[in-house]
Amino acid sequence: MTTDHQSPRSSSTHPWPKHLPILLIFLITSLLLLLQIQSLRNTFNITSPSAWSSLFTPNSLDDHQRLRDSVTFLPLKDLRFSKTPMDGNTWFMSSLNDTRDPGESESLHFPSPASKGRLLCLLGRDASDGSKNHYALSWPDALPHGASVLGGLTFVCDTHYDYDNIWHAMGAVFPFVRWHTRNHCARPARWVLYHWGEVRSSVAPWVRALLTAVFIDEPNVKVLADDDGPTCFEEAVVFRHNQGAMSLDAKRAVYDTLRCKARSYCNITRTQTDSIRLTLFLRTGARAFANELDVIRVFKRECDGLQGCVMRVQRSNGMSFCEQVRLMTETDVLVSSHGAQMTNIFFMERNSSVMEFFPRGWLELAGVGQYVFQWLAGGAGMRHEGGWWEPNGEKCPETMKDDPAKCFNFYKNGKVGIDEAYVANWTSRVLKNARQCMLERSGESGLGGCECG
Ligand SMILES: *[C@@H]1O[C@H](CO)[C@@H](O)[C@H](O)[C@H]1NC(C)=O
Ligand SMILES: *[C@@H]1O[C@H](CO)[C@@H](O)[C@H](O)[C@H]1NC(C)=O
Ligand SMILES: *[C@@H]1O[C@H](CO)[C@@H](O)[C@H](O)[C@H]1NC(C)=O
Ligand SMILES: *[C@@H]1O[C@H](CO)[C@@H](O)[C@H](O)[C@H]1NC(C)=O
Repeated sequence: MTTDHQSPRSSSTHPWPKHLPILLIFLITSLLLLLQIQSLRNTFNITSPSAWSSLFTPNSLDDHQRLRDSVTFLPLKDLRFSKTPMDGNTWFMSSLNDTRDPGESESLHFPSPASKGRLLCLLGRDASDGSKNHYALSWPDALPHGASVLGGLTFVCDTHYDYDNIWHAMGAVFPFVRWHTRNHCARPARWVLYHWGEVRSSVAPWVRALLTAVFIDEPNVKVLADDDGPTCFEEAVVFRHNQGAMSLDAKRAVYDTLRCKARSYCNITRTQTDSIRLTLFLRTGARAFANELDVIRVFKRECDGLQGCVMRVQRSNGMSFCEQVRLMTETDVLVSSHGAQMTNIFFMERNSSVMEFFPRGWLELAGVGQYVFQWLAGGAGMRHEGGWWEPNGEKCPETMKDDPAKCFNFYKNGKVGIDEAYVANWTSRVLKNARQCMLERSGESGLGGCECG
């Protein structure tokens, strides 16, 4: 018996390596096999990568078993990153690197070259601890034991915020709308929602309506089955950075799509008019105006002073989604105190104006969060004309003075009073700008189909 395992150096005493004949036979056989496969491939015109690779996948039960067993489930929420949950890969699916497309939000796509053709599999439905839910990647022909595969496209969303506040929820689903318009208008068969890796089963009704308008069907929010083992997805797209690195152009395009789709869903067409339509959008309760009648009087006087200005007063609570879309479609200048109802501003025509009001304490204590509607206005192409921060009103009690968070809580939902002279001056300026802007834009038509109509 020759000793195949000996080091090659032992053959150096022979003029030819002693395995040469065996090697030659092996090489020739391999070559023939390759040619055979190539001709098969041509015959059957096998072009799909999965069909091609299946010719090479190990077909012995043992290898299959090994591949299946090698599928490793990791916690969806990686506690090692709890101090920096939003950085880098975030703490959600932390082992997976995002695909970065310039000007777009960072994303994960399965199967894809980045996943080496593997599918995304999820396990668990814990709604209060994301580290108890798991994910894994698996080749389609070596799925983990007991796995089921859901066909079609699945949108998997993780957000650091929530799905109940319409501003936060819109931020979470925003990049999916962009993905849809850039990928042949592909629509998801289902959504799987997470917050810190914890399962969520619903979104705010306003966001539900918005998604229905965009994707035509009501969103199917899927909560994975409990004891059926892992669920793998034929195709899955994951966003975990909200708008992430999205460029201004990309954001504008999404807002244009949302506006267009919402109007179309609600059967609203914008009528061309020469008037400037000012809407006073009133909150009830938290952050309402302290004296609504005074506020209405000030705006009415300024509006009456400008030719063609029409004013409308509308309470924000109790409106249906489509009523909100219609109101915004018919508004050129929106006046409102800070709150979720302002998320509607992107339903106005581009270049419309926004005036925002805050209670006492916000300017000093609310941090950057108070500027969200300025950012939204900027992203959507609206003119945010600044804010009024109420300087008067009850002061934070001495006992809380050293605790800014407590103090902010004290102020947070206060009533908004106004300085009439200041607000009158400001309003008159904004209305004149709006009139000027409208003249410059006249002749432009906002009509035309929606992207992915
Ligand atoms: C992710 O990116 C890091 C840094 O670029 C790299 O070291 C790592 O190997 C990547 N991981 C995967 C799974 O591709
Ligand atoms: C819009 O119009 C269509 C057809 O007239 C109707 O079926 C649909 O219910 C309307 N949608 C809304 C939101 O009113
Ligand atoms: C707003 O209108 C001006 C002209 O008045 C125009 O140059 C600008 O592009 C418009 N902005 C958006 C976001 O459409
Ligand atoms: C309005 O405010 C501007 C500056 O903000 C000031 O120059 C102007 O005098 C004010 N007008 C009135 C009528 O108060």
